[in-house]
Amino acid sequence: MNWTVENKNILVTGGSSGIGQATAAELASRGANVTITSRDATRGAKAVSSILRTTGARVSVAILDLADFASVRAFCEKYTSGTSELAVLVNNAGGIFSSRRETVDGHEMTFATNHLGPFLLTSLLAETLLAAAQARVVNVSSVAHTSAKQGILFDDIAWTDHKYKMMDVYGHSKLANILHARGINDHYGPSVSAFALHPGIVATSFGGRGGSRLVRMVMKFGGRRLRSAAEGADTVVWLATAEHIGTSEGIYFADRAPESSTRFARDDEQMERLWTVSERLVSS
Ligand SMILES: NC(=O)c1ccc[n+]([C@@H]2O[C@H](COP(=O)([O-])OP(=O)(O)OC[C@H]3O[C@@H](n4cnc5c(N)ncnc54)[C@H](OP(=O)(O)O)[C@@H]3O)[C@@H](O)[C@H]2O)c1
Repeated sequence: MNWTVENKNILVTGGSSGIGQATAAELASRGANVTITSRDATRGAKAVSSILRTTGARVSVAILDLADFASVRAFCEKYTSGTSELAVLVNNAGGIFSSRRETVDGHEMTFATNHLGPFLLTSLLAETLLAAAQARVVNVSSVAHTSAKQGILFDDIAWTDHKYKMMDVYGHSKLANILHARGINDHYGPSVSAFALHPGIVATSFGGRGGSRLVRMVMKFGGRRLRSAAEGADTVVWLATAEHIGTSEGIYFADRAPESSTRFARDDEQMERLWTVSERLVSS
């Protein structure tokens, strides 16, 4: 079957800035019905106007806080009541936090924002993904997953016993993004293909609202070495739109090509265990 995103429904989490906004703009300009999300109505509306101004394409915005399971459930209830088929879900939204904090549900903030929230979201949207003849899920991961030197810390997933080191905690959540993509391919059946990717080091507002001075400095002084948001969105858009791409070529990509990942990212036991643990954590 030929693959096109024209007139298809696409959801991009965190489309209010950076890679997500650039992804949404490009996909909308290719004729997809794009919805972006933001935690903040004003930020979301600003992104919508900016996309309309630069591309002439319309996108809609909905409120979603991935660090709050009630918000994820409320969003999905509303979204699925108006949308029966979802062709592409881009799990892009993410954060990095300089110190340990917890969500309203009592989960460590990085793992909840970057993995548990997207896991719950994807699960609640599964029926709409399966209702499309073919669907894709694209998880925006990172090369930072390589910093998860012990794999997923199943004995301390909330980082209460281990010393909280921002990049380790962030990398751990980005490893979960790759394992989640692999889990979707295993659990959802052949009509849904899931991928993960590293977008490059991209000049965005990443880390800004999380209070990470280190990340802000990299973004500020990285200068021309950093990619633009549109460049960072390139492989995301490619994975969402490329006609002949399948998971047999790989799950984890960078620069439009399969990229090597750590042994933990390729480990079936890690994948299955993370799936089971995530199901439990999002339902409690
Ligand atoms: N920039 C890089 O160099 C880089 C490198 C590798 C991977 N990545 C990944 O790329 C993705 C996008 O990051 P970016 O660089 O484009 O950063 P960004 O400009 O800060 O965008 C992050 C987006 O995530 C949303 N978001 C943050 N926390 C959220 C929450 N709790 N619930 C829902 N949405 C939330 C934000 O929306 P609101 O604040 O409006 O809610 C925002 O639109 C992230 O997953 C990041 O890990 C980035």
